[in-house]
Amino acid sequence: MFVKLIALVASVVSVMALNVTSISECPALTTRTSPPKDVTDLRADDIKILGSLGDSILAGYGMKPISSGILGFLNKNTLTEHRGLSYLMGADEGAVSIANFIKHYNQVIDGPSAGSRILGYLRGHQRLAYNLETDYLNAAQVGAMALNLDEELNYLIDHLDDGTMVDPKVMSDWKMITIQIGSNDICRSCNQEFANETTADAYATYLERAVQRLQAEVPNVLVNLMGMFNLADIYDVYAKDPEYCDNRVLLKPCDCFQESGGLDHMDRLINGKLILNAHE
Ligand SMILES: *[C@@H]1O[C@H](CO)[C@@H](O)[C@H](O)[C@H]1NC(C)=O
Ligand SMILES: *[C@@H]1O[C@H](CO)[C@@H](O)[C@H](O)[C@H]1NC(C)=O
Repeated sequence: MFVKLIALVASVVSVMALNVTSISECPALTTRTSPPKDVTDLRADDIKILGSLGDSILAGYGMKPISSGILGFLNKNTLTEHRGLSYLMGADEGAVSIANFIKHYNQVIDGPSAGSRILGYLRGHQRLAYNLETDYLNAAQVGAMALNLDEELNYLIDHLDDGTMVDPKVMSDWKMITIQIGSNDICRSCNQEFANETTADAYATYLERAVQRLQAEVPNVLVNLMGMFNLADIYDVYAKDPEYCDNRVLLKPCDCFQESGGLDHMDRLINGKLILNAHE
């Protein structure tokens, strides 16, 4: 018993001691002897397709700096989505992204976005525009809110099996589809224009509808639902560290940052939502 315990401790320690700075240093997984039983039995190398629904964060907007002042604003990064650098879906070489981490365990993976393209911007119910060569299955749109999820999902589902973005050989394989949405909902909740679309209930309804559609229409899918973070914290980071995100023009699109009491309003909404979720 004692010996066993020591062996266990030793093995835990050896796992914890693995401290690398690049995914390329992580050891390969042992080959699977049987296919995954179900969604609870997946490993990184079982995921053959990545997809996502979301906003500018997943679209890779702001991944390259825009310096302060009017000349900084004229920088081409102001008008560029760096899809290939998205922390989740970015497939560019060297990008620190979940897509590249999974690629380390499974060379063949369809769906990640690559390179860059001109900025698109949504504000409410508008038609979505995609650039197939860079976006692939990263259906995120800059400016998107929960109300846009259904249309993002149309794009994603259309391209999952039309043979253009996913190799027909892996179409029925395991997919991981991530949803990260809500920053624009929170930011625009201070604007009357979106009063009825930015309630916790409206948000929950749109999100639930998207998850249910995925469940009904996409086989073999792991849905990775990302929680919201408190955007008001970003405002504090800007305020404390002027070096961080030089060009304040980027703050403008957040309606609540422009309004007195806006930050408190964001706090209340996000905390209210968390409490609502805890009760469900
Ligand atoms: C891992 O390595 C980095 C860089 O050398 C170091 O700063 C960090 O403390 C290490 N972490 C652990 C858990 O050992
Ligand atoms: C908000 O109001 C608009 C216009 O009346 C309506 O089209 C939309 O469905 C409403 N949204 C919600 C979530 O009730």
